Amino acid sequence: MPTQVPGPAPYPAWLEDAVCYEIYPQSFCDSNGDGIGDLPGIVERLGYLEALGVTAIWLNPCFDSPFLDAGYDVRDHRLVAPRYGTNDDLERLFAAARARGIRVLLDLVPGHVSWEHPWFVASMRHERNEFSDFFIWTDHAWRLPDGLRAVTGLSERDGSYVANFFVHQPALNYGFANVEPGHPWQQPVDAPGPLAVRREIRDIMRFWLDRGASGFRVDMAASLVKHDPGRRETARFWREIRAWLDTEYPEAALVSEWGRPSEALPAGFHMDFLLHFAQGGYTPLFRQGSRHSMMGDPYSWSFFDRSGHGNIRAFLDEYQRDLAATRHLGLMCMPSGNHDMGQRLADGRDAADLACAWAFILTMPGVPFIYYGDEIGMRTVRGLPSKEGSYDRTGARTPMQWDPDGVNAGFSTAPPEALYLPIDPDPERPTVAGHEEDPDSLLNRVRGLIALRRAHPALCAGGLFVPLLAEAGRLPFVYERRAPGAAERIVVAVNPSASACAADVVGDPGSGSVETLYGPPDALVARGGGWQVRMPGVSAGIWLVR
Ligand code: GLC
Ligand code: CA
Repeated sequence: MPTQVPGPAPYPAWLEDAVCYEIYPQSFCDSNGDGIGDLPGIVERLGYLEALGVTAIWLNPCFDSPFLDAGYDVRDHRLVAPRYGTNDDLERLFAAARARGIRVLLDLVPGHVSWEHPWFVASMRHERNEFSDFFIWTDHAWRLPDGLRAVTGLSERDGSYVANFFVHQPALNYGFANVEPGHPWQQPVDAPGPLAVRREIRDIMRFWLDRGASGFRVDMAASLVKHDPGRRETARFWREIRAWLDTEYPEAALVSEWGRPSEALPAGFHMDFLLHFAQGGYTPLFRQGSRHSMMGDPYSWSFFDRSGHGNIRAFLDEYQRDLAATRHLGLMCMPSGNHDMGQRLADGRDAADLACAWAFILTMPGVPFIYYGDEIGMRTVRGLPSKEGSYDRTGARTPMQWDPDGVNAGFSTAPPEALYLPIDPDPERPTVAGHEEDPDSLLNRVRGLIALRRAHPALCAGGLFVPLLAEAGRLPFVYERRAPGAAERIVVAVNPSASACAADVVGDPGSGSVETLYGPPDALVARGGGWQVRMPGVSAGIWLVR
């Protein structure tokens, strides 16, 4: 029997029933007809987000940038990119969202800047200056740093610099955990350059928190200190940031793009994402193999696949291990997708498949993250050229589809050729307005599931998660959620397969009373030392048990 978590939750209280929605600002809503989404456009659509039931927005970078990596190449951290609006527009968004109970998390990119950032431009100069040590430079143009991505030949300064991602994203200097003898250009983490960089990042966070941001999604959070085995020094930096937030901004939330909750949560993040890279457990849920695949190997199929060949253990073994290791530290968050996964949740799935997947996403612990458009089943648009460094990520970044009849699906009044990316040309493409009309649409189901989650503490972030039936080669997958210390118990079953299935599930049936909250009534019946569950093909059920 799991015991109650002692003491207060290790995250701001508002995260407990939070549901977060990721907005790629260039593709959400264009208010001024220039073909690019913008901040006033997001403000116009806040009513939609409120009605959906989301309580937070994660906004991809909206800062001044040459946009060689869609804004992850920041040129001025304290200035909103003119194409999105002004600093005042961002403050208006914070306030208008907050008035509807929605907080806004900004995207913090601590590991690198644009090569056009004034700090980097100064650091490229021959004369030593205040910014010479803000980046990692070797001591000669011909000397390349071992094991790091180096760029040489661009500067007056005699040296090569370390790039964190693309060549145009020079790595900020957080120092080296282990300075190698004979490499004086490698600086320790407490050298003046790295200390100045750390102060700047904190000041940038303070700047936006003081103006109404509610926290940050932190880009490549594990990437800061170089030659850092186990990322111990990087973690030390984040713990300092967390200690500072705890005293000065205790309501602010931090979610990391780390992809290893067992490292990121001890490093001080309130939340870490389950991701398509780093560890393997997330991909086999939705993005592995497909029903069109010819391979019969069960490990090559997604769990949410009509074939029923998927294996929940491919996800759960790692998930349960990490959950047990981090339960008292923070939250593991499940995204439906994001701007880096070039494959949307809806690819190869119909409305019933998607409803089943969403019932799972919205009843798991942590904070669920909805990638814009996934709530209506937007699909990846294939065959597009790269846009601002998107490459294989392009097709999942196309404009939000609002209206079946409006120009550009209601995204923008610009001529189609002026759009940031084209609208999905499929005549069957889903739209918000189309889904509003149908009470049984995916959008309305997602809305219902969000409302259900937020109404039941057992289903929220810190509620316990106990698998009841989770075996390779067997369906359904059944689990219980329970609020720590509270009496409420909820059982969830998902059957992504096209075939009906039934099983006896061992568990405490309580008094035997079962109330259907979602899905097929009478599918869960108390029996002996547990329940009998009978699920139709492609279905999910949620039941309150007493
Ligand atoms: C992160 C972002 C991605 C970006 C990269 C470099 O992975 O999510 O979009 O290209 O970092 O900043
Ligand atoms: Ca615009």
